[in-house]
Formats: sequence, structure tokens, C-alpha cells
Amino acid sequence: NKGKYEHYMQKEIHEQPESLTTTMRGRLKRGGSTKAKTVLLGGLKDHIKSIRRSRRIVFIGCGTSYNAALAARPIIEELSGVPVTMEIASDLVDRQGPIYREDTAVFVSQSGETADTLLALEYALENGALCVGITNTVGSAIARNTHCGIHINAGCEIGVASTKAYTSQIVVMAMLALAIGDDAISSQARREAIIDGLFDLPNKVREVLKLDQEMKELAKLLIAEQSLLVFGRGYNFATALEGALKVKEVSLMHSEGMLAGEMKHGPLALVDENLPIIVIATRDACFSKQQSVIQQLHARKGRLIVVCSKGDAAAVCPGGSSSCRVIEVPQVEDCLQPVVNIIPLQVCI
Ligand code: F6R
Repeated sequence: NKGKYEHYMQKEIHEQPESLTTTMRGRLKRGGSTKAKTVLLGGLKDHIKSIRRSRRIVFIGCGTSYNAALAARPIIEELSGVPVTMEIASDLVDRQGPIYREDTAVFVSQSGETADTLLALEYALENGALCVGITNTVGSAIARNTHCGIHINAGCEIGVASTKAYTSQIVVMAMLALAIGDDAISSQARREAIIDGLFDLPNKVREVLKLDQEMKELAKLLIAEQSLLVFGRGYNFATALEGALKVKEVSLMHSEGMLAGEMKHGPLALVDENLPIIVIATRDACFSKQQSVIQQLHARKGRLIVVCSKGDAAAVCPGGSSSCRVIEVPQVEDCLQPVVNIIPLQVCI
């Protein structure tokens, strides 16, 4: 039942505070007698040591699921210390790329039935890797054929364009990072801050969903355009790819997500006063680099729409509101920021 919404995708976008809550339910512990903050992923508990000891973690998926894994990659690398590589399922199979017994191969798929991802799973099993599934569908082929896994529990996703599954996948993979890194004293404070951030995330998502009207107005301005670029980096390179994918798929407009660090190596040539460009520039370790990207785009008279942290409008847009449009979102723990940042892009399509 779509309730008050025009279509399922819109309903699922607005459901995210609840779907994220279900994704985390029973898995995060805070307080108690020891006051320890911990993560419990039942489906992985017998395998977490092997994952920690693996030589490499390989994320494998397609489309939005691949993008979710890309968003989680930095925090998995940081908290596990294990190198993480990314594979688009079809490309891994096309190349017959190297997968070893010492690898942990993590298959990310909302449906758990995507043919390309299943072929890649078959291939990784043949090569002897430990195979982990992250799916939204209990009993799906990927859930059945992997050695272990985590259900994202986001609730049935009916809209063809994946929205709530994306944010729940990121949260599950952040919890995976916490579980793998659980034995390291040196990162305990960081892990606790992320757990606090996870508890508060549904509220922040609720807050950013209030931008609905503002984003619809922005969408009206963009509807007649030929093309849209989205620049992000670090945790939010994935936001750029995923935002552009949603625009292509739903608004049927050409759109490209790009790594901001690559801007000066080619894409800058496209920038003029006509092409709209979204820059993701929320606060994290890459913020000052994004400020300088914005300056370079300004110098080319780029038509900018900047997604920034609350209160940062002047810091990202020195020329004031005449030179660019600013969308302010609540700041959260850096590795969770992609969950918040994708929402304005989802609601504007
Ligand atoms: C985009 C979208 C697709 C899927 C992709 C993988 O909105 O929905 O890109 O993400 O086809 O599907 P799953 O996650 O079911 O394996």
C-alpha cells in the first residue's frame, strides 16, 4: 500500500528513518553493566575471525549495491586494517579476475538474485574464497549460497530504483567494519563514536527529509537541462555515483558522478556557465580539498549546487547565494555522512 505517496519509490525514500532503525535493531548494544558499546552480527559470529585474518576483502555487486559498498570501503579499511578492493560483478567475471582462498568476498545485493552477482559468487566459490552475503531478501540465491552473511532487514523494496536498501546496506557495512575491528583497543573511541552516530542516524535522516520541498523546487530548475555532473570524494565519491545513477534512471537525464580529485585531469574542460554541477562538500578530512575544487569551478563560472554541512554556506560559497545554490544537511560521523547526503538527491529525482 502506497498510502499518501504517489509511487513506491517516494514511499520508500520517506520510510528511511524506520528502515534504518530495523536494520540496526538488536545489533547495537550501548550501556549495560560494562557500559561497553558493541555490535552483534549473528550471521557472522563464527566467521569474524577468518574475515579479520583474510589477506583482502573484495566487495562485489552491481549498480546501487556496488555504490553502497564503495561508500563503506574507507571505514572497513580503517577499522579492519585489511586491504579492500572493489569489483563490479560482471567485470570480475569478464576478466576472470584473481580471487584467492585467502580472500573474503562480500556479495552485496538488495534482491539477492541479480544474475551478474550470482555468476561472480559461483566464480568466487570455485576459487575457494570465504563468501559473505549482504542481502535484503531472506532465502534468496545469494543468501543461500554464501558461507555466511547479514540481512539488511530494510523491508521489501518495491520501487525499481533502489533507495532505502542503499542506506541500509551502508549501515550494515559500517556495522561490519565495527565487528571486524572489535578487537583493536587503539580504535575503541572511534568505534564508540560511530555507534553513537548510528543510534542517532534515523533522527538525522528524518531531519534531512524535511528538505523535500526545497529539493522539488531545485528539481524544477534542473528538469530542462541536458546534463548534470556530480562531484564527490572520500566517503562521498559513492554519493556522487549513486546520485548520478538515480538521476539517469528516474529523471532520464544524462548525469555523471565523478571523483572530485580527477576533476583537473579532464572533466574541467566541460565546465561552463550552463552545465549544472552538484558538489558534495560536507565536513570531513577532505573538506578543504573540496573547497578548492569549488573555487576552481567558480573560476570557470560553473553553475554550482553545493551540498554542505549545516552552517557552512559561507565557507563553501564565498560569493554568497548569487554565485551558487546551497543545500545544508546535518553533520554526522564522517563514515555515516553518505547516508544523509544521498537523501536530498533521492528526493529531487
Ligand atoms: C539502481 C538499481 C540497480 C540495482 C542493481 C543491483 O537504482 O536499483 O542498479 O542496484 O541492479 O541489484 P541488486 O542490489 O538487487 O543486486
